[in-house]
Amino acid sequence: MKGIVLAGGLGSRLFPITISVSKQLMPVYDKPMIYYPMSTLISVGIKDILIICNPRDVELFKNLLGDGSKYGCCFQYATQSKPKGIADAFLIGNEFIGNDQVTLILGDNIFYFPSIAERIEDNKIKEGAHIFAYHVSDPSRYGVVDFDDNNQVLSIEEKPSHPKTNYAIPGLYFFDKKVTDYAKALKPSLRGELEITDLLQIYLKEDSLNVMKMDKGTAWLDTGTFSSLMQASQFVQVLEQRQGLKVGCIEEVAYKRGYINKNQLLLLADKYANSGYGKYLISLIDE
Ligand code: G1P
Repeated sequence: MKGIVLAGGLGSRLFPITISVSKQLMPVYDKPMIYYPMSTLISVGIKDILIICNPRDVELFKNLLGDGSKYGCCFQYATQSKPKGIADAFLIGNEFIGNDQVTLILGDNIFYFPSIAERIEDNKIKEGAHIFAYHVSDPSRYGVVDFDDNNQVLSIEEKPSHPKTNYAIPGLYFFDKKVTDYAKALKPSLRGELEITDLLQIYLKEDSLNVMKMDKGTAWLDTGTFSSLMQASQFVQVLEQRQGLKVGCIEEVAYKRGYINKNQLLLLADKYANSGYGKYLISLIDE
């Protein structure tokens, strides 16, 4: 399974914060935003990751994350010069995906989902497309899914003014190898984008779209506005200070999955000794 993090876009809803720096490099409490989606992918066992960003920011992302070898992973980079939609990621990533399954995560979506690896395992994600559904108070801002008691999808709608349910579709999607062919067949929507929901419609028509409800004890946070960005930071701060455990810590996830050993973790910890982040990494070794 390959992974793509889509970290493009102008971040114009956060101007002037994002005029000169990518939104996905903004801090969410104690780490850059992109750490969260990266660690979500790594936590489900994805080591081959393509990071798609604005051409302006590619060097900054490379500087931060490198080629992934320090985490026992392999990171590649590609650019999206115009915001042509989420499904455009599959055209940009065509060669990278090759003949494999792929998981796409949006670079500004933050998940607190401790049981995610088991959920994916239990659902035997192989064929078709798999999405999550998360109960929100304001579904009109998102892709919305309607499903029956057996989790059979009935409909998918992008930002409907009269949503059929309160279940939004978070920016984390699992696809089989047919995804690039399907993406090639998409036409831009009225807003000029290749919509992820149009891609999901194709899978729905083929009867191969599966939905998994996110458990009550999980969180999917938005970072699109000043307030939601602040709330995401506060959420992470409250959780981390209360539990003494970090959320979205790439080094920890890579270590726990066995992608790096104690010595490699110590090397990474050494770099962050001054910020306290390093002390946390060292504490993982004594666990
Ligand atoms: C996009 C998708 C939407 C999805 C959302 C998740 O919305 O189009 O279906 O629910 O991401 O963050 P947008 O980025 O246009 O707000």
